[in-house]
Amino acid sequence: MKVIKKSKELQTLIEREKKKGKIIGLVPTMGYLHSGHISLIKRAKKDCGIVVVSIYVNPTQFGPGEDYQRYPRDLERDKKLAKEAGTDILFVPSDEEIYPDSFHTYIQVEELSGRLCGVSRPIHFRGVATIVAKLFNIVKPTKAYFGWKDAQQLIILKKMVKDLNMDVEVVGLPTVREKDGLAISSRNKYLSKQERKIAPILYQALVKAKKMVNSGENNSARVLQQAKDLIKKKKGVKIDYLKAINLIDLKDAKKIKKNTLIAIAAWIGKTRLIDNVII
Ligand code: PAF
Repeated sequence: MKVIKKSKELQTLIEREKKKGKIIGLVPTMGYLHSGHISLIKRAKKDCGIVVVSIYVNPTQFGPGEDYQRYPRDLERDKKLAKEAGTDILFVPSDEEIYPDSFHTYIQVEELSGRLCGVSRPIHFRGVATIVAKLFNIVKPTKAYFGWKDAQQLIILKKMVKDLNMDVEVVGLPTVREKDGLAISSRNKYLSKQERKIAPILYQALVKAKKMVNSGENNSARVLQQAKDLIKKKKGVKIDYLKAINLIDLKDAKKIKKNTLIAIAAWIGKTRLIDNVII
C-alpha cells in the first residue's frame, strides 16, 4: 500500500494506472476506520483494480462548536486496517493541500442540504459536497463508495454527481451494525459505558417502526409516535429528528410505502448519532 500526501503525486500515479486499463475505486473517509469502512474497502476491492482510500478530517463540514477538534484520529492504526482490507493507495492530504489560503470555491446542493441533519448542521453538507467533489477531481474514480448510514449524505452526493455531470458512480452499501444493533460510527467512541448501553434504542425504535409498517400500518404520524414513545422510555436520549421521508427529495412522507426512509438523529449525552432504515 502506497501512502501519498500530495494531490499531484496521486494524480500522476492514477493516470499511470488508468493507462494500464485499471478501474479506480475511491473510499472517502475521515479515518478512525471501523468495520463500516472496511466493508466499503472490501467491496471496492472486488469491483476495482485499484482502491484509493482517503483519510481527511474535513474542517469545512464541522460547524462552530462541533467535534472537529476532538474527532478521533489514529493514522498508524488506520494504515494497518486499510492495508489489511486491500487498499492500494492511502491518500492522507494536509489541510494546506486541500484548503490553501487562496481557496474560495464551495459546492452547495440546494434544498436537500437544508433538510434533516441540515437543520441543525447548516453548513455540514456544503463541506461534504466540496471535499468529495475535490476528491473526485483528484482521483477521478470510476466508482466511489459510501455507507447508507449517512443516507442524506449519499443522496446529496448522488444529486451532485447528476447535476454536475460528474463521471463517477456513487455506490451505497448497507449500514454495518454492532451485535446489539447500534450502527457502527467513529462517534460511538465518544459514548460513556452507560451511554453505550442506551444507544441501541435508536435502532430498536427504527425496527419497531418497520415492524408496524410490515404489519399494515402506513400512517407516518402513528408509526413515528410509537417509535418516539419507545425512545422516551429511556432517560438520556434527546431526539433531534425522527422522520419518515421519501428518498428522492427528502421531504416528509405522510404515508409510508416502499422506499420510504425512516431516519433518526438523537443526542445521547454530548454525542449526536444518526441511523435509518429503508422500508
Ligand atoms: O462520511 C464521511 O466520513 C465524510 O462525510 C466524508 C464523505 C469522508 C467527507 O468528508
